[in-house]
Amino acid sequence: MNRIIKRCDEREILSTYNKETVAYYHNFRRKGTFMNDYLIAPRLRTLLKSKIFGKDVLDLGCGFGKDVEWCLKNGAKSVMGIEINKDFISIARKNLSLSDVEIVNSSIYDAEKVNKKFDVIYSNMVFDQVQDLDLVFRKISSLLKKGGKIIFVAPHPLSTVTGDYSKFFDNYFVGRKVYHVPKSHNNRLPCYTRTFGDYSKLFYENNLCIEEIVEPKPSACSKKIFPAAYDIYTKLPSVVIFSLSKKENG
Ligand SMILES: C[S@@+](CC[C@H](N)C(=O)[O-])C[C@H]1O[C@@H](n2cnc3c(N)ncnc32)[C@H](O)[C@@H]1O
Repeated sequence: MNRIIKRCDEREILSTYNKETVAYYHNFRRKGTFMNDYLIAPRLRTLLKSKIFGKDVLDLGCGFGKDVEWCLKNGAKSVMGIEINKDFISIARKNLSLSDVEIVNSSIYDAEKVNKKFDVIYSNMVFDQVQDLDLVFRKISSLLKKGGKIIFVAPHPLSTVTGDYSKFFDNYFVGRKVYHVPKSHNNRLPCYTRTFGDYSKLFYENNLCIEEIVEPKPSACSKKIFPAAYDIYTKLPSVVIFSLSKKENG
C-alpha cells in the first residue's frame, strides 16, 4: 500500500505534522478545549448517525481515530481509516478499542488501492489540506457503493474573506493556498481555499448530488469556554458540512 510520497502537498503535510506537533495536538485535544469539538462534532455526528448504522464506512485522514471509534460505537458495520502520517496512527492504535480496526497508512491520493466499496465515505477537515481534490474525488467516488454517501467537513468558503485567513485575501473567487497558524503553537497548516462554485463543479463532475449543506454554529455550552469565538461563529460561518449521495446512474 505504501508508495513514495511525490506530491508537494503530501510532503508538506508530513513535515508540518511532525512527531512533536502530533503529540502536542493529542494532549491538547484530550483537555477538551478544542473549539471544533463544540462547533463541528455535534451537527456532524447527528448527520452521521442517521447514515452509518449497519454500513461500511471509510474515514479519510482519520488522524487519532476519534471519529473511527465513534462510528464503531454508533452502529457502523465496519470502519476503515486512511491516514498519511504514522505518528497519528500509532496514537490511534494505542487506543484499545481501535485494535481491531484497519487503519491504512496511505495518502488519500491512493485511496482506490484499498480495493473495497463503502456505503459512507467521510472526512473531517482534511480536504482543505489537499491540492488536487478533482483527482481525489474521481478516486473516492469509484469506491462508493450504489446509493453511497460522501460526508465531509471543510473550512466555509466565506471564512476566507471573513475569518482568520481574510488578512491574506483580496479576492474570494481566486483559489489560493493560505496558512493557518494555530494560536496554541507555531506549526503552519496549509489550506487550499475553494468557493461554493468549485465544490458544485466537483460534485457535478463526479455524479454526486447534494443532500444537505450544514453551516454549524457552536453549541450553547461552549459560550463560557470560548466567549470570543462563540460570539464570532454564531454570526459568521467558520466551517461547512456537505452531505452528498452518488446518483443512481453514476
Ligand atoms: C486537521 S487533521 C483532522 C484529523 C481528523 N480527521 C479529525 O477530525 O480529528 C487533518 C488530517 O489529515 C491528514 N492528511 C492530510 N493530507 C492527507 C493525505 N493526502 N492523505 C491522508 N491523510 C492526510 C493529516 O495527516 C491529519 O491527520
